[in-house]
Amino acid sequence: MHYELLIRGGTVIDGTRAARFEADVGVQGDRIAAVGDLAAASAERVVDATGQIVAPGFIDSHTHDDRALLAQADMSFKVSQGVTTVVAGNCGISAAPLRPDMELPMPLNLLDVPHGERFTTFRAYLDALRRAPAAVNVAALVGHSTLRAVTMGALEREATQKEVAAMRGLLEEALDAGAIGLSSGTFYPPAAKATTEEIIEVGRPLSGTRGLYVTHMRDESSRVMEALAETFRIGRELGVTVVVSHHKVQNRPNFGRSRETLPFIRETMRRQKVCLDCYPYTAGSTMIRTDRGMLDGRVLIASSEPHPQCAGRDLDDIAREWGVPEAEAARRLQPGTAIYFLMDEDDVRRILAFDETMIGSDGIPVGDMPHPRLWGTFPRVLGHYARDVALFPLETAVWKMTGLTARNFGLTGRGTLAEGQHADLVVFDAATIRDAATYEHPTRAADGIRSVIVNGSVAWQQGRHTGARSGQVITRQPA
Ligand code: ZN
Ligand code: CU
Repeated sequence: MHYELLIRGGTVIDGTRAARFEADVGVQGDRIAAVGDLAAASAERVVDATGQIVAPGFIDSHTHDDRALLAQADMSFKVSQGVTTVVAGNCGISAAPLRPDMELPMPLNLLDVPHGERFTTFRAYLDALRRAPAAVNVAALVGHSTLRAVTMGALEREATQKEVAAMRGLLEEALDAGAIGLSSGTFYPPAAKATTEEIIEVGRPLSGTRGLYVTHMRDESSRVMEALAETFRIGRELGVTVVVSHHKVQNRPNFGRSRETLPFIRETMRRQKVCLDCYPYTAGSTMIRTDRGMLDGRVLIASSEPHPQCAGRDLDDIAREWGVPEAEAARRLQPGTAIYFLMDEDDVRRILAFDETMIGSDGIPVGDMPHPRLWGTFPRVLGHYARDVALFPLETAVWKMTGLTARNFGLTGRGTLAEGQHADLVVFDAATIRDAATYEHPTRAADGIRSVIVNGSVAWQQGRHTGARSGQVITRQPA
């Protein structure tokens, strides 16, 4: 046999949680053509994987890459980690639909979409991605906060029936175009006033479509159990799968409460479809805000429009220099983004180790000082948590970022390494893989990623991007 690409001599971890096995992998076009002993085969291009793991390309279940896919299409911050597919449009925020003239309230402006480059329909956004492919595949959600912002004049209130109907129409358009579901972010000001009923009524078109409801919940702090109950209720009323995004329990009085949330999630999973994801850090990152206990721990400024030179500095240090309280300094730094150290390591480990937890970075690809999760999430789970901390076997770690994610999001033909699947592959060194991005140096590429292949094209090789942009737009499968 002759293949276009042959990955020789590696150990396959196939993304199903099955034990690893020795096999060569042959690729023809954008598909895996054979898995097994291919010693007799020839190929146009051979990747030597001796001593390496060969796995399905990683799927980042939670991203804010909507705009980066077009503006930073090489997607080095993801490809360098072995990521070959991203789920965009999370936390209620999506790049479409938007009006060219509208001002984007925080946190919608985190996506950094310039006025002149906006898409008024979801279809136009997906078409732009097809015309100018990124280096990774994308499956996209439409954001409820985005729908509110395009539909409602004022966001500090519940939507009227007319507005709900308009949002429902926009959701229908997005689903017809191929969106994989609806995301919400009731934690954030633009959707905080949306009631449970509003979300259910806007979400009606999801029913019967295999579309998901994905949420940055109203509360991940003292009222996290109520927020979970609300999420489950929305899933039940719509008859859809729910995804609890970046599950966490934050602020010191709530440390340890993953002992309550995880059993509640487990118990609910018996009656309805519930999924969750998590990033492997004790700090989160989002817009600069002073309410809801966000300033209770160490705060590191990641970006600030009025004071760009403050990026990378601690808020308490800036406040001291300015001679003002921290909350006042934070207000002066707005709009911007910050990194908040509000989680307990034991909770992070408990949630990561929960068998149904997927890995999602939640990275925000804006500015020079992002949270290190943007460049480090996947190697950190494989190197730090699976190998060094021994939180779970490597096969489980890979499954949490491939097979489990593809199954939950309905990404047919991806997430497992088998004949006929899309040739999204990563070759990595299990002994040396390691996240190199830190809070001080957040944009360092990880160690130990040898080759990354997206739809049969090599995108990353020996620590460098090849320039390949072979990503595809993944649309929702019909019900
Ligand atoms: Zn979020
Ligand atoms: Cu997010």
